[in-house]
Amino acid sequence: MEFESVIKARESIRSYSNKNVEDDKINFVLESARLAPSWRNRQCWQFVIVKDKKIIKDLSKTSIINHWLKKVPIIIVACGDPKQSGLRNGINYFIVDVSIALENIVLAATDKGLGTCWIGGFNEKKVKEILGIPEHIRVVALMPLGYPAEKKRFFENLAKIVTQGKKRKSLDKIIHDDKW
Ligand SMILES: Cc1cc2nc3c(=O)[nH]c(=O)nc-3n(C[C@H](O)[C@H](O)[C@H](O)COP(=O)(O)O)c2cc1C
Repeated sequence: MEFESVIKARESIRSYSNKNVEDDKINFVLESARLAPSWRNRQCWQFVIVKDKKIIKDLSKTSIINHWLKKVPIIIVACGDPKQSGLRNGINYFIVDVSIALENIVLAATDKGLGTCWIGGFNEKKVKEILGIPEHIRVVALMPLGYPAEKKRFFENLAKIVTQGKKRKSLDKIIHDDKW
């Protein structure tokens, strides 16, 4: 896809088909994360790629609002090591580093016709227990990955109404010329 088309086509997908995701597409997506920039190039990220159905179900139970995750084919659990990144002006750069890598994942997936949805609603302690993630590592987000279902399920439609889907503030509400 052209870059502009990828940006415009991307949306949060909450209904997935059972279709298998090809290894070369998964690799492309992960390689896109690997190439992301990071604080002092420390690359503090780690990703757990969960395909096991039982583990996916267990992960879906760590969130009240994201139960629909139980039906996704893959969940990428994106983690960061705060000790490998920096803290400046009160900003924890491990969150920024992992988030940039995740956005690369989102855009690479869109380019390959795959769906994703950034998931911040989960119980970190439970996720870490399920996956055996070390104490000092933080879980930044869960990211389902798979082919979008042809028909959107109930929760997808509800979420789009609640969050107003792709509605965005206009540029004049967010841009300041020269000074605030
Ligand atoms: C940090 C972050 C956390 C989010 N957490 C959730 C979540 O827990 N569950 C969910 O269904 N969507 C979640 N989303 C998706 C947003 O609701 C979605 O991006 C927003 O409504 C805009 O819709 P769009 O992605 O379709 O353009 C999250 C997005 C971000 C960036």
